Amino acid sequence: MPNEPYRVGVITASDKGAQGAREDLSGQVIRELVEKAGYVVTSYRLLPDDQPGLEEELKRLCDGELADLVLTTGGTGFSPRDWMPEATIAVAERLVPGIPEALRQYSLSITSRAMLSRAAAGIRGRTLIVNLPGSPKAVREHLTYLLPELPHGLAILTGQAGECAG
Ligand code: MTE
Repeated sequence: MPNEPYRVGVITASDKGAQGAREDLSGQVIRELVEKAGYVVTSYRLLPDDQPGLEEELKRLCDGELADLVLTTGGTGFSPRDWMPEATIAVAERLVPGIPEALRQYSLSITSRAMLSRAAAGIRGRTLIVNLPGSPKAVREHLTYLLPELPHGLAILTGQAGECAG
């Protein structure tokens, strides 16, 4: 980790959550795990599953340089209202396919249903966006695997490290 902790923006995509009909347990798991790993949560929004609104929030975080990392939860499945990967791909300037590939590969050792996640990851400006599934269990499993590898990528993305030194 650098001197200043990396800043994390959290977006939970959930129609029921945004209506106040369901507690956002997944967003809470993200906060718990990233803070334990030394990151700081600088933004948290619970939004309906509405692609234009999700794109707007992603752009606000990236273009306003409010976060080095944006973690989203929800909206990666097959429901007619699941549009989080599409919102991510629409705003990304560069895709990062290795992250969802690795997360699915790891998750397949836990549940075959991991193949049903359509999660994406991409970079806009100096911010990395990573989609996570909607369940608190899946979020915990993903972040446990993902978080130790991210500081290296974030250091390069934010200009604090020049190259991969082995
Ligand atoms: N990955 C892990 N590690 N653990 C899980 O429990 N659930 C899967 C998958 N990936 C799961 C997982 C299921 S059941 C679905 S439908 C997809 O993620 C998409 O989840 P979402 O619709 O909640 O976004």
